[in-house]
Amino acid sequence: MFESKSGIFFIAGIGFFLLAFLGNGVVPMIMYKDRHEQTAEEVVNKRVMAQFRDLAQRYPESFQNAFGEPTEEACAEALRLGRQLYVGEGCWHCHSQFVRPVSNESRRFGPVSKSEEYDNELQRPVLFGTRRVGPDLSREGGRRGNDWHAVHFHKPQVVSTDSPMPEYPWFFDGSPDKPNRRGIAVMTYIQWLGSWLEEYPYYEELAEVKGEQ
Ligand code: HEC
Repeated sequence: MFESKSGIFFIAGIGFFLLAFLGNGVVPMIMYKDRHEQTAEEVVNKRVMAQFRDLAQRYPESFQNAFGEPTEEACAEALRLGRQLYVGEGCWHCHSQFVRPVSNESRRFGPVSKSEEYDNELQRPVLFGTRRVGPDLSREGGRRGNDWHAVHFHKPQVVSTDSPMPEYPWFFDGSPDKPNRRGIAVMTYIQWLGSWLEEYPYYEELAEVKGEQ
């Protein structure tokens, strides 16, 4: 059988497929079946909360209408909606969420991604992405202020000359200083990305300005 054509096809085609299916699918499923997948409420942390409160102070009226008070429950709600928008608006066509351990990517984007970072509701299904028209966003949180994001989502070219990123006017009730529920949710989600890492930039400054710590 192994010297015949059909034998070779069998091993190369079906055999290796089955082996990969077992090794990459079935075995991990059995190994991790008792592991608890974190909910959106459980992944709210002090860093994303500082950003959420920052949004509430910056855009008081819009925030009040969209989410009421900046509580942890409201933040989880914003994260869920933010992720839905990220999927629905096709952000993943142009942005990846996975820092790979090759080509010195960590020097450009931050620490290489680890599998446990993806073990929660907001990463289901994962949004690794395959194309990078824009930069990887898995460590985007804290990199820019909320006001920058607001202007950028409203009209990317204002802050990033010749950017091919589309405008998202439906995230706002008019001008960039009036983000609506969608706008606030998407900014919260973006500020959450990477907030589980100690390296999250500018957190101390942000917390200090807000009188927290
Ligand atoms: C057509 C491709 C494209 C789409 C779709 C797109 N982007 Fe972008 N994005 C880019 C490019 C290119 C850049 C880099 C230039 C710039 O800053 O605008 C960028 C930059 C960004 C940045 C700033 C990164 C940084 O710190 O420099 C964020 C945040 C971002 N995009 C989020 C999003 C979100 C959220 C969506 C969906 C609502 C989205 N993008 C949709 C192409 C895209």
